[in-house]
Amino acid sequence: MARMDIRRALPADLPAVAAIYGREAREGHATFDLEPLPMALWEEKLSAEGDHLLVADLEGTVIGYASSAPFRPKPAYGHTRETTVYVAPGHQGLGTGRALYDALLALLADDGVHLVVAAVALPNPASLALHRGCGFEEVGVMREVGHKQGRWIDLAWWQRRLG
Ligand SMILES: CC(C)(COP(=O)(O)OP(=O)(O)OC[C@H]1O[C@@H](n2cnc3c(N)ncnc32)[C@H](O)[C@@H]1OP(=O)(O)O)[C@@H](O)C(=O)NCCC(=O)NCCS
Repeated sequence: MARMDIRRALPADLPAVAAIYGREAREGHATFDLEPLPMALWEEKLSAEGDHLLVADLEGTVIGYASSAPFRPKPAYGHTRETTVYVAPGHQGLGTGRALYDALLALLADDGVHLVVAAVALPNPASLALHRGCGFEEVGVMREVGHKQGRWIDLAWWQRRLG
């Protein structure tokens, strides 16, 4: 059986991570970016203090990643993190997203993070199921806050208290 590891990302993983995200930016609606992000941003993310970038490594191939980031910059938001997770097409629906999120949430709990927030562009039944399964609760939906691929997109906000 193929072996999958969830581990911290290394600099050599960044092109694969960037490609997974870039495909979703160009072809999907899970992110409101329209184009891939420059490598410098991924390098910054990798070295960001207080946050995490994890990858799912399937026998040497990065098939997904999960990351945390500050929710908003003002200091009173300091105990809150925003998380996200992407799994490459062809590997979805096999438990990888859940494994990545479980590992990320455990690290954030160890860090003493109080609240984790996630924004899910709709429709996205897999992401809604993932967040529900990981103990998040939905706290509201912003209607038509994004416009992509010729349509307005709603954004559901989910949160989970860790502390
Ligand atoms: C959303 C995503 C990260 C989920 O990861 P995954 O590896 O496909 O999901 P998993 O196999 O770990 O399953 C997680 C849960 O979602 C459910 N699920 C998976 N695919 C589903 C689908 N297509 N429809 C409905 N539920 C689905 C699983 O049954 C599981 O629920 P459970 O815990 O109640 O059994 C992945 O599908 C993805 O990368 N999608 C594109 C990018 C994206 O939407 N990212 C999220 C941004 S908020």
